[in-house]
Amino acid sequence: QFADAVYEVWSLFDGRLGDPEGHFQRLERSLGELAIDMPMSRAALTLVLKEAVRRNRIRDGLVYLQVSRGVAPRDHAFPRPALPPSVVITVSRVDRAAAEARAARGVAVVTTPESRWGRCDIKTVGLLPNVLAKQKAREAGAAEAWYVDDLGLVTEGASSNAWIVDADGVLRTRDTNANILRGVTRLSLLDLARQAGHKVEERPFTPQEALAAREAFITGAGTLVLPVVSVDGKPVGEGKPGPVATTLRRLYIEHAKATSV
Ligand code: PDD
Repeated sequence: QFADAVYEVWSLFDGRLGDPEGHFQRLERSLGELAIDMPMSRAALTLVLKEAVRRNRIRDGLVYLQVSRGVAPRDHAFPRPALPPSVVITVSRVDRAAAEARAARGVAVVTTPESRWGRCDIKTVGLLPNVLAKQKAREAGAAEAWYVDDLGLVTEGASSNAWIVDADGVLRTRDTNANILRGVTRLSLLDLARQAGHKVEERPFTPQEALAAREAFITGAGTLVLPVVSVDGKPVGEGKPGPVATTLRRLYIEHAKATSV
């Protein structure tokens, strides 16, 4: 009730949680911002998540964790005394071959006006604007919706962060002073891209700049690094996945596997 809960999503590679550290850190931060206790220690939670993976017999996919304030009579203010938080975990299968084929084709995005609350840095389950944006994308035959703020700048996607390789070859993604989720994939990729010798700037871009860019892509635990080939029906670059996004996808998957637990 009240969307009074936070969530996390880990990619799952060969039965192991990908890029785990950043997701646990963000979970603790989201819970802290809402004064919900960690349901158990990080070590215990890792064991429980892995047990859910094992019992579902899934090797490649996604692990979803939701922590809500707990079970109490409906009241807007926090229950007193504080309750043990409630935990829901689901594990879902991803067909990695199909995901790679999709990445090789690239996806379309559409833009939509930013319509969310002012604390998108907290990963709450209050996702109604995201649901509506994603449905708008689906109806347009697109995979993602990019929110555009009052200044005409892309904030992020409905369930991913947004990037371009601009006309000068600079990798750009919005800074986290803006009202966006601090994507774990985004953070790891900033490092990986710099290590690979790319010039990277945390600086916003407009949809027009995305259309003038060499490449565009999105990042997230679900999409990993996914090339974007059109925005609002117009092609980005050559209208097909570019070399930078394709290489970064490979580097990120290697990183997620290498850090997995
Ligand atoms: N979504 N921005 C938003 C609004 C998101 O919901 C997500 C993740 C991201 C990317 O964050 P990360 O790299 O930490 O996954 C950015 C998850 C996957 C989801 O809602 O299913």
